[in-house]
Amino acid sequence: MARAHWGGHPWLVLLCAYAWGHPKSLDQRDDVRNCSISPPYLPVTAVNTTARLTALRQQMYTQNLSAYIVPDTDAHMSEYIGEYDQRRVWITGFTGSAGVAVVTMAKASLWTDSRYWTQAERQMDCNWELHKEVGTTPVVTWLLAEIPVGARVGVDPFLFSIDSWESYDVALQDYDRELVSITVNLVDLVWGSERPPVPNEPIYALQEAFTGSTWQEKVAGIRSQMQKHPEAPTAVLLSALDETAWLFNLRGSDIPYNPFFYSYTLLTDSSIRLFANKSRFSSETLQYLNSGCTGPLCVQVEDYSQVRDSVQAYTSGDVKVWIGTSYTSYGLYEVIPKEKLLADAYSPVMVTKAVKNSKEQTLLRASHVRDAVAVIRYLVWLEKNVPQGTVDEFSGAEQLEKFRGEEDFFSGSSFETISASGLNAALAHYSPTKELHRKLSSDEMYLLDSGGQYCAQPEHLDVIAMHTTSMQSCLTLCDHMDCSPPGSSVRGILQARILDGLPHSPPEDLPDPGIEPTSLMSPALTDGFSNTSTTWEAPLQNTGVGCHALLQGIFPTQESNPGLLHGRRILFQLSYQESPR
Ligand SMILES: *[C@@H]1O[C@H](CO)[C@@H](O)[C@H](O)[C@H]1NC(C)=O
Ligand SMILES: *[C@@H]1O[C@H](CO)[C@@H](O)[C@H](O)[C@H]1NC(C)=O
Ligand SMILES: *[C@@H]1O[C@H](CO)[C@@H](O)[C@H](O)[C@H]1NC(C)=O
Ligand SMILES: *[C@@H]1O[C@H](CO)[C@@H](O)[C@H](O)[C@H]1NC(C)=O
Ligand SMILES: *[C@@H]1O[C@H](CO)[C@@H](O)[C@H](O)[C@H]1NC(C)=O
Repeated sequence: MARAHWGGHPWLVLLCAYAWGHPKSLDQRDDVRNCSISPPYLPVTAVNTTARLTALRQQMYTQNLSAYIVPDTDAHMSEYIGEYDQRRVWITGFTGSAGVAVVTMAKASLWTDSRYWTQAERQMDCNWELHKEVGTTPVVTWLLAEIPVGARVGVDPFLFSIDSWESYDVALQDYDRELVSITVNLVDLVWGSERPPVPNEPIYALQEAFTGSTWQEKVAGIRSQMQKHPEAPTAVLLSALDETAWLFNLRGSDIPYNPFFYSYTLLTDSSIRLFANKSRFSSETLQYLNSGCTGPLCVQVEDYSQVRDSVQAYTSGDVKVWIGTSYTSYGLYEVIPKEKLLADAYSPVMVTKAVKNSKEQTLLRASHVRDAVAVIRYLVWLEKNVPQGTVDEFSGAEQLEKFRGEEDFFSGSSFETISASGLNAALAHYSPTKELHRKLSSDEMYLLDSGGQYCAQPEHLDVIAMHTTSMQSCLTLCDHMDCSPPGSSVRGILQARILDGLPHSPPEDLPDPGIEPTSLMSPALTDGFSNTSTTWEAPLQNTGVGCHALLQGIFPTQESNPGLLHGRRILFQLSYQESPR
């Protein structure tokens, strides 16, 4: 969970015990920079950006710019961005996921939120000022003081949403400074051979077993929405990476933790144009896309870099292009004449994708079952091993990954696992490393925030499918599973722990919440639960499966949660089955 949401995660476990750790005083710090002494003090973690800034300023000079803004996203407004796109990280040295950098001829500044202040002081050298604020206003206020009337402020329009472009543009214009769209990225020009290579792993089609409908059916559905729309759009332009991945049932690995690939789609009433690197498709995949032909159900693969020119050429005709403004870059928006634009917050693909058909729902539940199993196994493992003093933040995160890896169709974490013990639990977005980690102890808090990506297993779903309770849905399977549908998983159980602290009483001491699990689950699963001799791995009697299914029934929403006590009882039963305690 990098940027947007930092609450509400699939597995947010706070194991609270009776005591809190007491932080040591941090008066004398050698881990952060000190720019107010001469010479400045720089920790070993700081990056020397002098040469990088000099080179960038040369490019700015060539473009006659007084300032250049380097934001933290990619051309698809992705929440997670590939290393290839981490321009702000490279120019500043600061690796946090959120932060905007602005370089003028004389100064360089970074704006970031409180999660990252310490990290920024550790990683930036004294070329950079740190501003502990976020948003357009403080950046513009600073710029107005630094650059003269008439000055030009350059940006790469592909890295700005329509909204953020407009808020900078209006604010600067009010004070006679000009925002200038420069389609060549100036950081890329100076990044040179240090820049990570463009991802080029194969782009592949999902197995049919994992898809809810064929791409041809999805295309037909979107075209029918275009025809029915009163404004009669002739095309839909897809900019978000999950839109194109969903539409064609294609996947890639360009973005960490997300199975997407760099792409755009221009779906018109008579053609389908997919902008991506064609050499990354196998001949089978090209065949799957009918890419040899030119009819309305043939996908023409065009080069990724051609998208702006192609959209511009298309909009010279008598057309209307439907876009989702929340994630379309200004770089594409600016080439579409306004009278030829149908602008909604979300494209019809994004909206359609959010509604799951019954097969997708079934697949989705199966994914959650798998993840529930892994997380419950981890909790049990923690209960056994933490008291031995053998678990640290890093080995714990690895163990969870291992349990997830033992589930069918696990395809990686859905974000970097936050596994934080004691004081570290107070650091936002703290992730341990092999070198730097803290021990877990049973008298300190442990914070775990993690998620997994799965393709669902199509067989054995009949058992789970009996539970008709609706789930608040995530994106597509094999897309983000980092979506934390409240109540759809053992999350409720985990919350029971958060609310009650780590209890030390046996399950029979807990009050009966008065909810009959049998009304919510199949007898097979209920028996799996009540029968304390059921093993974890028993096929189809997997307690994780049962737990999950039960919770779908008893935790309809996160807020009003009548089943907490019940969940706690279950957790005890599960946890203590194999536990020596
Ligand atoms: C920097 O050093 C000065 C002088 O030693 C000290 O007063 C100040 O607190 C230091 N600042 C930081 C951020 O450590
Ligand atoms: C940073 O690098 C520049 C050359 O690129 C060098 O002149 C300067 O001394 C370095 N600064 C520090 C603090 O090492
Ligand atoms: C450069 O920009 C300034 C405004 O900052 C403008 O007055 C000047 O004419 C520009 N020079 C060129 C060569 O475009
Ligand atoms: C396209 O993909 C091929 C094969 O993966 C790779 O060699 C090439 O560099 C890529 N081209 C671009 C422009 O990314
Ligand atoms: C409980 O488990 C035991 C051992 O696996 C089994 O013999 C028994 O039939 C189970 N009882 C129920 C109600 O499933």
